[in-house]
Amino acid sequence: MEKIVSTNFSDLLVPNVEIKEFPDGDSYIRIPDVKSFAGKDVIVYHRLYPSQNTSLIQAVFLAHALKEAKSIELVTPYIPYSRQDKIWFEGEIKSAEITIGILKNAGYSRITSFDCHFLKKAGDIEYGGMKIRNITLSNLLISHAKTRLGNDFEIISPDAGANYMSNGKSMNKMRGDYEKGNIIYRNIEKMEIGFDVGGKDILIIDDMISTGSTMTKAIENLRKNGAGKIAIAATHGFFINDSLKKLGQLSDYIFVSNTIPSSVSEVNFMNVLK
Ligand code: R5P
Repeated sequence: MEKIVSTNFSDLLVPNVEIKEFPDGDSYIRIPDVKSFAGKDVIVYHRLYPSQNTSLIQAVFLAHALKEAKSIELVTPYIPYSRQDKIWFEGEIKSAEITIGILKNAGYSRITSFDCHFLKKAGDIEYGGMKIRNITLSNLLISHAKTRLGNDFEIISPDAGANYMSNGKSMNKMRGDYEKGNIIYRNIEKMEIGFDVGGKDILIIDDMISTGSTMTKAIENLRKNGAGKIAIAATHGFFINDSLKKLGQLSDYIFVSNTIPSSVSEVNFMNVLK
């Protein structure tokens, strides 16, 4: 397999493409030795977050530059728009499916990603005509939690969507979106635990922490119900606004993987690719 490494993967691999910007914000990409990839199976390592819209067009441009390749696989730690996979109101669109369609039309035949929100399970899954290898980091996150919690703790996900990461054990979450200006927030209206957590140490595990409102509610509930130490972990840590600081104060221990690098990225997703 030949490798193309994007500049936004430089924390993990050595880039071999040029990705730059014009003064007006347009993206520029160049694969200097592009001919050497003709007729080959190529893996492109490129993040689609942060700056998801720009990163997406860069992924499209890279695939177009590789049009002489035999096949192109995209390794992207996080797939943007993955939470918009349903139509709730007339006139909305399934942004997740459209994003995958854009990558397929650009020339990618396979995507490898991690704990992709709309797939809700690990494995090789076909979605929107694309083969997606969805790898879960749950085992890595759970092993890492043991370094702080020891071996005796319960693993719980905040909602059923991520319960494949917690051996099926989840709380029951009810969502109620609200808007502030033109930003849509996903508020958590209610969360029920449904089992006894009294005196137990808990690891709350989720596919992502964004604004932190899900984890905040989960921690509050567990504390109210007498839980012991509470660690929180996720594959993708966005930590919008000051949520990392707040969650750090509420929990006993917080960590995520480096799919989106942050100061609490303590688990390396590349370890499961080796
Ligand atoms: C939702 O179903 C996801 O699994 C996460 O629980 C959610 O997206 C986290 O978002 P936030 O941190 O904003 O509550």
